Amino acid sequence: MKNSNIWNYAYFCIIMRIDIITVLPELLESPLSHSIVKRARTGSLVQIVIHDLKAYGKGKYRQTDDYAFGGDAGMVMMIEPVYKLLEDLKKERSYDEILYTSPDGEPFSQKEANRLSCLQNIIILCGHYKGIDQRIRDHLITKEISIGDYVLSGGELAAAVITDAVVRLLPGALTDETSALTDSFQDGLLAPPIYTRPADFMGWKVPEILLSGDPVKIRNWQEEKSLDRTERLRPDLIDTDNRD
Ligand code: ADE
Repeated sequence: MKNSNIWNYAYFCIIMRIDIITVLPELLESPLSHSIVKRARTGSLVQIVIHDLKAYGKGKYRQTDDYAFGGDAGMVMMIEPVYKLLEDLKKERSYDEILYTSPDGEPFSQKEANRLSCLQNIIILCGHYKGIDQRIRDHLITKEISIGDYVLSGGELAAAVITDAVVRLLPGALTDETSALTDSFQDGLLAPPIYTRPADFMGWKVPEILLSGDPVKIRNWQEEKSLDRTERLRPDLIDTDNRD
């Protein structure tokens, strides 16, 4: 795989661009500046640009939120700053997807990460405050994504989760390219248990079969453990459309 065209191509041009729009850029800098994502960025596999929405805010105080019509509690992200920032981005390139992170979005999955990793340009708009003006969702967003059935203070951590899951799939992002294929969920199952040295720690032993050196037996054992673990911990994954 290392000599394949896609691998060589990655050295010469940016494969993917992710623009993230937020009112709290600091919250995203660190999670996207380490490990695999850092390597993918410095290796030009992905360009991640974090935009501070406040730069497009209204007036002297760079206002990006306002009171909700109808008197509900909580501040609402205004339409104009988001619209103007999106317009500026869209002048530069076309986007395959404009995502909005929200607890009422479609549940994020490995399948969705795989799909997004094949796109060229995506925008992630991080929700904040009580929510965003519905007209942004109706007219500007192409897809809403939730990372789980709980409410975060803002969509930034969700955007970091989505970006990380996508970027590690880009060709060349992982040192051992095949390892993304053996991740949990890639075949719809949880990954099998793994071990490293020492083979015996105070009597806690690594399963003999992993020391046998027989790749077929090891693979069969791993498949069996993978299935056992999934049946025990995530029976919902078996026989669902997560397996494709
Ligand atoms: N914003 C707040 N909670 C969220 C969630 N669970 N997923 C995505 N974005 C969010």
